[in-house]
Amino acid sequence: MLQLNTASGIALGNLRSRKGFPPAWKTLAELEQVTDRAVEAFLDERLQASKQLGGAYLLEELADRALRTGEQELMDGDRLNEREKLDLVRALDRQNSFMQIYPTLIGIVLPFALEAARRSGRDAHVLELAGGTGGFALALAEKVRNEGLPVRITGSDIVPAYIGEAGKQAEDRQLPVEFIRLDALDPDGFGNNTVDADVIVVSQSLHHFTPGQIAVMIARCAQQSPAAFIGIDGYRSLLLAAGVPFIASLQAIPSFAIDGLVSARKFYSETELGIIAEIAAGKGSRSVSCSWPLSILCVHFGS
Ligand SMILES: C[S@@+](CC[C@H](N)C(=O)[O-])C[C@H]1O[C@@H](n2cnc3c(N)ncnc32)[C@H](O)[C@@H]1O
Repeated sequence: MLQLNTASGIALGNLRSRKGFPPAWKTLAELEQVTDRAVEAFLDERLQASKQLGGAYLLEELADRALRTGEQELMDGDRLNEREKLDLVRALDRQNSFMQIYPTLIGIVLPFALEAARRSGRDAHVLELAGGTGGFALALAEKVRNEGLPVRITGSDIVPAYIGEAGKQAEDRQLPVEFIRLDALDPDGFGNNTVDADVIVVSQSLHHFTPGQIAVMIARCAQQSPAAFIGIDGYRSLLLAAGVPFIASLQAIPSFAIDGLVSARKFYSETELGIIAEIAAGKGSRSVSCSWPLSILCVHFGS
């Protein structure tokens, strides 16, 4: 529940039958705006489709609307200090480890990196954006070191304390991974040829960004011609809307449980992720799939 595939299919068909979808754009500022507007138009159209379908379809649509929020996670706001935010991201890292999320992420990302290395004949560079305290980058680095794989890894986040923590862990565990502070939205940072990468990963952070911001990230990737952009996030569903805050509450950190609920309410449906990628990079180059409890958006660039 909450993917609303039937109503989404009708809504998307209706939008496509009209001129102007997917919307064209010239600049990244335009891309951000047209993507936000297109996702809003899709949700309006889906509401109309759900009304026509009626019954359980309409109930599901109303549940989805009641749940949606634009609220900011405590982690991103200024009500918590950096120390408290660090506690939340550490808790998320423990939860990811407990739920065996990192091996799943490695299974998704590594084939793209190895393919990029095979094609180029050199080590592939994996860059993670918004990576928190680097749990995924560290796990990938351990695998790469243990198996001698042709991959180099950079982890990044906007919060310096997370980068400090991740770098310390890499040093203590002697792992081949670098951590840098990077604002995924800064036009003078990522995407401006300052960091070259073959595979760009945004894991469990997509819902921290608006549709337009995700589209801009994808388009910036395209400008750098990497092999792929991989966006991974929670699967939008009632089960996770209840399950994420429940599992988060097991660590007895109230602000972590609250953030879990806010996040689960913000997860994008797979149709929304597809629309965002299509506007940013064209229809043929993207795929959206589910590896429960995750949605995986892959955008391929080049051949
Ligand atoms: C839910 S956490 C996910 C962290 C990590 N990927 C994980 O799974 O543990 C979201 C992360 O997005 C980061 N973030 C938010 N806005 C950002 C931005 N503009 N640039 C880079 N990172 C950002 C936050 O600092 C936070 O670490």
